[in-house]
Amino acid sequence: MKGRILSGMRPTGKLHLGNYEGALRNWVELQEEYEMFCMIADWHALTTEYEHPEQIRANVRELVLDYLAAGLDPKRVAIFAQSDVKEHAELHLLFSMITPTPWLIRNPTIKEQARDMGLIGEGEEVTKINYGLLGYPVLQAADILIYRANAVPVGEDQVPHIELAREIARRFNYLYGGFFPEPEPILTCVPKLPGLDGRKMSKSLGNVIYLSDLPKVVKEKVCTMFTDPMRIKKKDLGDPEARGCPVFLYHKLYNSHEIAQIEEDCKAAVLGCVECKGRLAERLAEFLTPVQDRRREAEAREGYVEEVLKDGAKRARSEAERTMEGVRERMGVG
Ligand code: TRP
Ligand code: SF4
Repeated sequence: MKGRILSGMRPTGKLHLGNYEGALRNWVELQEEYEMFCMIADWHALTTEYEHPEQIRANVRELVLDYLAAGLDPKRVAIFAQSDVKEHAELHLLFSMITPTPWLIRNPTIKEQARDMGLIGEGEEVTKINYGLLGYPVLQAADILIYRANAVPVGEDQVPHIELAREIARRFNYLYGGFFPEPEPILTCVPKLPGLDGRKMSKSLGNVIYLSDLPKVVKEKVCTMFTDPMRIKKKDLGDPEARGCPVFLYHKLYNSHEIAQIEEDCKAAVLGCVECKGRLAERLAEFLTPVQDRRREAEAREGYVEEVLKDGAKRARSEAERTMEGVRERMGVG
């Protein structure tokens, strides 16, 4: 055992390949070596989705199914909903006592989120956002430190939050005596998976392939993918690597043993984009089939998702409770 990991995602709808490559693929590997807690951050979802509470519960269920479909093993990993372990809220409150507001106001990820939501303009300070959103990283610090996790697998955008968790841990340790380990981010090293149009894969841009997309849908979507812009006709010579052809990048990930041949044939213009996409669609469908089988299996078992969440919460709660006893004692409260 290398140590302990806490990882989490907000339940904001079904996952796409970009989410899988950016996080889940890594988590599934990490479960072999680490003790893992995989959380569904439903309170964090409310920081922005508080006007749509009716969707949260359904999305939690979806996310459990996506975790299982990706290959997380609930016997090994504690899969649980944040709101089932109320201790996170208590630790968030206690951490808020020792967290200076400037640490939050300068957080670039929160700034970006507030900008995306239209709450603040370019270059504006985060003054007009809800208290919960400002405290988002404090809650995230509580999520991590309550398990005294040493590592957190995250994407680049989450690094400021991990840094804050480290600062809070340091401050707590300074004020009340060494207690929390300082968690390290584990950055995913895979290249960012572009969307169908070559931009970042994102639901709001409508350029995603969902983990639940069936082969027919995958094929239709792959057909619309952008390619090397200089290959207008089949006889145009390609340079997929240099010109960043998204189809080529996908082949690298899902069809790696053919990649050298594809590059050669594309450069020599003996392989056309239509055929190249057809082959990719097949490989993608092959990759997604076992994922979708696992999902269907889990869905078919009556009450299984609830059982996974209940068992995960029980394991998480017992660890969280242990940490809280130490925290309460050090901070002089019950
Ligand atoms: N902020 C994370 C995201 O948007 C989700 C999250 C909440 C998280 N709590 C966490 C991630 C704790 C890692 C650790 O993806
Ligand atoms: Fe991209 Fe394939 Fe077309 Fe080459 S043949 S430009 S790799 S889609």
